[in-house]
Amino acid sequence: MRATDIIMKKRGTKIRTEEGGQTLSGSTTLSAEEIAFLVKGYVDGTIPDYQISAFLMAVYFNGMTFEETGILTDCMLHSGNVIQLHGYEKDGLKGPFVDKHSTGGVGDKISLPLAPIAACCGIQVPMMSGRALGHTGGTLDKLESIEGYRTSLSPDEFRALIARTGYAMTGQTKEIVPADRLLYALRDVTGTVESVPLITASILSKKVAEGSDCLVFDVKCGSGAFMKSLPDAKLLAEFLVKTANAMGKKASALITNMSTPLGQKIGNFLEIEETVECLKGKGPADVMEETYALAKEMVLLGGKAASDKEAEQMCRNAVDSGAALEKFLENIKDQGGNPEKVLEQCGKRRSAFKTELKAEQDGFIFIDAYKTGLAGVTLGVGRNKTTDAVCPDAGMILHRTSGEYVKKGETIMEIFGKNDGCLGEAKDALGRAVTYSPEAPQKSPLIYTVIK
Ligand code: URA
Repeated sequence: MRATDIIMKKRGTKIRTEEGGQTLSGSTTLSAEEIAFLVKGYVDGTIPDYQISAFLMAVYFNGMTFEETGILTDCMLHSGNVIQLHGYEKDGLKGPFVDKHSTGGVGDKISLPLAPIAACCGIQVPMMSGRALGHTGGTLDKLESIEGYRTSLSPDEFRALIARTGYAMTGQTKEIVPADRLLYALRDVTGTVESVPLITASILSKKVAEGSDCLVFDVKCGSGAFMKSLPDAKLLAEFLVKTANAMGKKASALITNMSTPLGQKIGNFLEIEETVECLKGKGPADVMEETYALAKEMVLLGGKAASDKEAEQMCRNAVDSGAALEKFLENIKDQGGNPEKVLEQCGKRRSAFKTELKAEQDGFIFIDAYKTGLAGVTLGVGRNKTTDAVCPDAGMILHRTSGEYVKKGETIMEIFGKNDGCLGEAKDALGRAVTYSPEAPQKSPLIYTVIK
């Protein structure tokens, strides 16, 4: 078998017609052996980056069937170890094991309040998260803004913490899905991230490796998401749910709006702060709505409630009783942080390098998620390369959000940077992220649809 032949099969053929035009003849479906050959060869170093880059671009343009996507996911999953959660009942790991995964957004801190809420409802949550990349934020970077918080747990520690409090937050180790670590880094620099089969295989291989039985996907849609249109987001949601089902996992997906940032605080520690507000029941309306919607879905998939209404009530009780906040603080302690210090720092811990964005004119504003996320990278919230460091105290506090009316000169947001030098460029970019309109905009839904 030769990598070149497989690449050409997926690429298809360009044919010159008599009239001088050009057509592409269809690419061919790959066999399980061919997909396995490429994944194995890439991980063991016998197939170089440049051939896999060409293959990824062929997949980007020609797609993969649902069956090919399942095979790719399976090959990636078995490129490394799989964490076992079953078989440890006597140690307190009884399940149901349910996780949620977001396709990535700006201000998307939902995993942070959601995990303790679901845990309070009797779900065991094995959460393996990622880091900020491009314009999107990363759960691990947010957690690591808590001094001492450890995100690289061994499988034994991961299991012990889930058994103790109902949830644990960890990062992907070298042994878990090495194929995704390599492929994701390559996709990031070859313009091949936004592909339904590649995203499906990337997310699912990791989620299945962490040992969950049930998965809830938050498929983001809009400028700040990988899927910009609703039809694309629906296709991704269907691929994720169907592929998960084919791998023996119960799954559902929510398609949610990511055209404007989620919540009012964007940044690493700033999002920990907003999580505490949410768990006190005082978070921004959009973050609370989305957290309850996703937590409710986890409770339903885990079989802990018989109806939507009952599941939602359980989640709300977890917040109203203070139990979810207590669990969040317990997890901080379990993973090496100091919960009292976190509470003390809320509302106070800010970068000393700061400025404000004021309204340039009167009008109803709209804040674009993608442009805001990119400005966040300039400030130090996120990173351009996997090796870049992030700043825990950089970010933005939105005083006004999309759809609100502002008067010229009013403060729209406070801006915090990693240093003085980045503030000017970020402020200009954020100025371009805000548009003004004389008429009130039509409110678009926060949750478009649920795919079971
Ligand atoms: N998140 C992932 O883990 N993988 C992708 O390909 C896109 C988002």
